[in-house]
Amino acid sequence: MKLCVIGGGSTYTPELLSGLAGKKAEIPVNEVVLLDIDEERLNVVGEFVIRMMKKLAPEIKVSYTLDREEALSGADFVVTQIRVGHQIARHDDTVFCLQNGVIGQETTGAAGFAKAMRTIPVLLDYAKDMERLCPDAWLINFTNPSGIVTEALIRFGWKKTIGLCNAPIGMQKSVAHQFGVDEKDVELDYVGLNHLGWVRNISVKGEDRTKEVLEKLAPYNATNIPELDYDPTFYHALGCYLNGYLKYYYLEEEMLESLKKQTKTRAQVVMEVEEELLAYYRDENNDEKPESLSKRGGAYYSHIALSLISAIYNDKNEVHIVNTLNNGAIKDLSDDASVEIPSVINKTGAHPLTAGHVDLSFRGLLQQVKAYEQLTVEAAVNGSYDRALLALCNHPLVHSAKKAKVLLDFFIERHGLQLK
Ligand code: G6P
Repeated sequence: MKLCVIGGGSTYTPELLSGLAGKKAEIPVNEVVLLDIDEERLNVVGEFVIRMMKKLAPEIKVSYTLDREEALSGADFVVTQIRVGHQIARHDDTVFCLQNGVIGQETTGAAGFAKAMRTIPVLLDYAKDMERLCPDAWLINFTNPSGIVTEALIRFGWKKTIGLCNAPIGMQKSVAHQFGVDEKDVELDYVGLNHLGWVRNISVKGEDRTKEVLEKLAPYNATNIPELDYDPTFYHALGCYLNGYLKYYYLEEEMLESLKKQTKTRAQVVMEVEEELLAYYRDENNDEKPESLSKRGGAYYSHIALSLISAIYNDKNEVHIVNTLNNGAIKDLSDDASVEIPSVINKTGAHPLTAGHVDLSFRGLLQQVKAYEQLTVEAAVNGSYDRALLALCNHPLVHSAKKAKVLLDFFIERHGLQLK
């Protein structure tokens, strides 16, 4: 079985492959090919990973290449983890948004639009090559903004795509920790979109423990989100355990103030962490996954990717929270909207569990963000300036059609977006 990692030169790759080594009994991968466009970085990460895997799983052949044909030919699973424009694009977008009084977070903020616009065409192009080189492969997407990118891929490029994010598993693990149980004993009635999730009900070993979670556990926060607390009255009125990214909406002003006060953008922090990681990978004496990987936001990402691959390969009918097309699961969204939702995973893919209607208290936000996301997908696929502008006008954190135009014109210029 062959696994291809698009964006294999990412500093995250050792995490993914050490996870694979841990699951080799369940997933009989015997070949891994790392594909990237950045030769220098690919060499450094590739050589490190080869050393690491020689120790952990010598039977898995690991190689790296700049050649798409070689990497994708005959792949059974393809993982995408690319960052078009690198961290510097993330930095520039964040700063420009902040200068215009808008949250520029790279998934949830207006910068998420820019990231989607420059990423979707690249991934659709990979999908074209996959038709020829690995027509039966499953595509596991980690590339952000994961929900938007996944929707574009499923609808316009690769039907067999499942999108992933580490936030839901992070929430599940926090609950498991609170009750001292295994994460498998925790079920989350999670509804929403990527980085826009509400957990309406939490059961631990089959018992409803939602109230206790809301009383004791702070909303889940990823490492890259500024620490700010909700007023407990609001949190309890809403009655849901919340994905940390919701703070950008529910505490918008406070988050904006906090982001403005930061001396470095998250992109600058990550660039420093990456230098440290690359120096570690370059040292030929090192062959173990480094501690400093935990400073990146993608905790547990290998765990969820490999559990998902195992559930597909072994036809497990296991429930995982993934990004897939709605197909009627959430009654307040269209069938072709990507949603982040518990889904049964087997060898035919992801089958979302029915979620019904969502409560009026968050239905509007959910629908508005989805409108922004779907307009973004349309704009990226059709190259339409008007749809792009309307996407940003619908973004709940942009607020003004004038600002939307200023941001769009900057993104076009900065990233060379081709819009008519
Ligand atoms: C969180 C999110 C991911 C995101 C990551 C960013 O874990 O759930 O979607 O990619 O943070 O991490 P970074 O270290 O790049 O800020």
